[in-house]
This record gives sequence, C-alpha cells and structure tokens, in this order.
Amino acid sequence: MKDIKRVTVAAIFADPEKYIGQEIDVKGWVRTRRGNKNVQFVALNDGSTIKNLQIVFDLGVIGEELLRPVTTGSSIHVQGLLVASQGKGQSVEVQAKELEIYGTAPADSYPLQKKGHSLEFLREKAHLRPRTNTFGAVLRIRHALAYAVHKFFNDRGFYYFHTPLITASDAEGAGAQFQVTTMDLNDVPRTEDGKVDYSNDFFGKQACLTVSGQLEGELGATALGCIYTFGPTFRAENSNTPRHLSEFWMIEPEMAFYEIADNMDLAEEFIKYCISYALEHCKDDIEFLAEHFDSELVERLRFVVDNDFVRLPYTEGIKILEASGKKFEFPVYWGVDLASEHERYLVEEHFKKPVILTDYPKEIKAFYMKLNDDGKTVRAMDVLFPKIGEIIGGSQREENFDKLQARINELGLTGMDWYLDTRRFGTVPHSGFGLGFERLVLFVTGMQNIRDVIPFPRYPGNCDY
Ligand code: 4AD
Ligand code: MG
Repeated sequence: MKDIKRVTVAAIFADPEKYIGQEIDVKGWVRTRRGNKNVQFVALNDGSTIKNLQIVFDLGVIGEELLRPVTTGSSIHVQGLLVASQGKGQSVEVQAKELEIYGTAPADSYPLQKKGHSLEFLREKAHLRPRTNTFGAVLRIRHALAYAVHKFFNDRGFYYFHTPLITASDAEGAGAQFQVTTMDLNDVPRTEDGKVDYSNDFFGKQACLTVSGQLEGELGATALGCIYTFGPTFRAENSNTPRHLSEFWMIEPEMAFYEIADNMDLAEEFIKYCISYALEHCKDDIEFLAEHFDSELVERLRFVVDNDFVRLPYTEGIKILEASGKKFEFPVYWGVDLASEHERYLVEEHFKKPVILTDYPKEIKAFYMKLNDDGKTVRAMDVLFPKIGEIIGGSQREENFDKLQARINELGLTGMDWYLDTRRFGTVPHSGFGLGFERLVLFVTGMQNIRDVIPFPRYPGNCDY
C-alpha cells in the first residue's frame, strides 16, 4: 500500500472533480459484489453517506485469489484511480490498484446478506443493523437533529445544563421510575415496621433513574436565565406502543421570564428549525427513506415548516371531539386525558396541521403547572403532531410559593423543599417544555416505530446489548 491519506466516500461525492484523475485511498464495508471472470464490481460503503462508491477490480491487476474472500459484509482497504464512470448508476468509480482485506464475512453466517430485510428482522439484529442503508440513513439524520438542537439553543443564548440521571425526586409524579440500588435483592434489609430500609443503600435513601430533568432545570433557569437539558430519560411504564421507549432522550428548555405564549413561540420555532435543518443537511438520507418507506415524507416535513401551528384550549378541543360524530375507542368528556386517537383526530382530520393544545384540567397534569384564574385548568401546552400525537409537553410553571406548596401538600409530595426554594427566593414567572427526541426523529425519518430510530432500543422485556 502506498502512503496516501484516506478519503471518505462522502468527501468524494461532495466534490468529485477534486479527486478525479487522482489515486485515492478508501476503506469501508462491502455492500455487494458482482461481475465476471475478467472484472468484478464492489459497492463500498463507509458510513459517511448513504451513497456507495463503486470499486472496479480488473482481475488482471488484482488477482482472483486475493479478491476471492471479499463478499457482502467484508471490510476492505483499496487504493486506486478515481475516474468518471462509464457505467450507469454512478458518476465516479475507482479502478483498484491495491487491495487489503481487513475482515471477511462468510455468507453462511453474516446475517445481512439480502437486500430488503424486514424491519422486524433487523430489530432482532440491532447490533448489526446500523450497517444497512435504512439504519445508516436514520442514524445520520438522528445525529444531524442532535446537532441542530445544540445549535438552535446555543445561537439563542441558552446554556446546556446537565441534570442528574440518578435522582431522589419524581418530577412527573407518574410513579414510573426505575430504582437504582446496590442492595442484595435476595436479602433486602427491613425496618421494624417491615418497610425496605434504604438507610444502608448506596445513597442512604431510595434513588431512581430520572423521568425528567425539569425540576433541576428550573434551578438552572432561575440562575442562568435560559437553559436546556438534552439527555437520556427513563420511564418504567408498561407501554408497548410504537411511540414509547423505556429509555429515551429528552430536550428540556427552561426559561426565566417566559410566559406560556413565549413558550409556545419557542416550541414552534424550535421544531421548525430542527426539521428545516434536516431537510437542508440530510437530503440524500431523507430522499432514500421517502423512496423506500414514505412517499409523502418530504411534503409532510415542508408542510410543518411552512404553516403556523394551531393554538387551541383543551376545552375547545373537547368540544370539537364531541361534535365530530366519530366513534372513538375511549370516550371523550371534559376532564379526560386525551388518548392518541383523540390527538390524531384533531391534528390529522380536523385541522390537518400541528396543534398546540393548552389549558388542560389540573387533575391530569403535573403538580408544577401554573393554575389559571378559573381554578380548574393549568397553563399546560402539548404540541400534537401528525402521525406522532404528542411530541412536546410543557407548561408555564406555578411561580407562587403558596399556591405551589398547597398543590404539593394536596398531592402528598415530600422532599420538595429544595424545589420550593426557587419560589421562596427571587421567584419569577418561567416556562419550559420537553421534546421527546425519538419522536422528533420518528417524524423526520417517517419511520413507523420508535424502536427503529434509536440504536439500541429499550422497551418492556427487551434489554439486549
Ligand atoms: O410530557 P412529558 O412527560 O413532559 C415532561 O417530562 C416535562 N417534565 C417536560 C417539561 O416541561 N420540561 O414528556 C415530554 C415528551 C413527550 O411529549 C414525548 O415527546 C416524550 O417526552 N416522551 C416519550 N418519548 C418516548 N418514550 C416515552 N416513554 C416517552 N414519554 C414521554
Ligand atoms: Mg406529556
């Protein structure tokens, strides 16, 4: 092998003219191999782009014996001349001069032989599926969206604030937390009244994985002004749906001096920004997914970017649902926690646009939301999306110490004194929301199942790798 600096396939396709006529060095995995006894064609993918680079092996140059072990899944290193391609289907190709094989992938054991494996099959092989076109596309889009999240907030003066993953508080009060313990579960210590004795556990008290960084995020916002979190979140709900994971990533901005309308403006601008970013920077990958899974994908993404979201109080939403004449599986009445079928009716059939539903009954929302003057509803806002349902949940927070403490007492919550300090000392109006990152990736990729937009999905009964 000559001493040539390796170039990625993405770099070649970004500027082919720069490399045509030159000897280049490429490394990657073989997607397919075909040809005859004189010449063999290998489609090489290195993960940098959905595009494969065609490598032409003239068997007079690279011996048949050397090339023989190279099959789908093999990893190889090639040096050769980049030329404009004679054949159809690619603009450039490499005329191989040197070949080094890093690893083979015997056809009788490598699982990704065929094109077009089902997504269910690939879920069983989640450790290898990033090597497929589909998952390569999804994972590159996922990366671009994560970058867009940081860029959006950084450009607007928000600080990335790291909230703990192990916590002693239950932010959403939904009781869906995973416990963290070093106790011997075969021999759990008990107090005199028979309860689990956590005093000798690792943290000296009961600890769990976080369901949300919001409460700690509020401590950040009431000091730094505007913050956001972006990290993994854990929920032990037994939800086997295509929209739920047990471990998902959430982005939670929290802003001092923002009222609910400011919060809605930010949420709408934020989602549109992320989608626009992906449309601009992930063209090849989005087009691939549109072509193979969802022909309306690009149109749907553009539609969301180009149109105002509807803003509607919950009470009005209930009226629309009641007047719809639709037979819903779950009944509709004022006070009900909307099911996905209700949300999707409003978004997909009634308005045909994303909807921000506000002012929910306080009973179905978390304790920290600001109570409206009616005493019945809180300043909540859920952003509802076509195909997804709820993509964002947020609210203006109750900043009044007495009202918040009354609500905490009413619900019997304990250990909240540190949180109440934000209202005790220099309280301010503030708001925030949480975007489920995988639901955003689901929307942008047009995939149907949330288990297919995170590399290693966790859901009830599944914790491989
Ligand atoms: O509506 P949620 O529960 O809101 C909160 O956690 C607030 N603390 C957010 C805030 O105001 N800072 O969750 C927010 C979003 C949902 O709208 C949904 O997109 C996503 O998180 N989400 C899930 N995504 C995947 N799997 C699950 N099990 C999810 N649960 C919620
Ligand atoms: Mg919610």
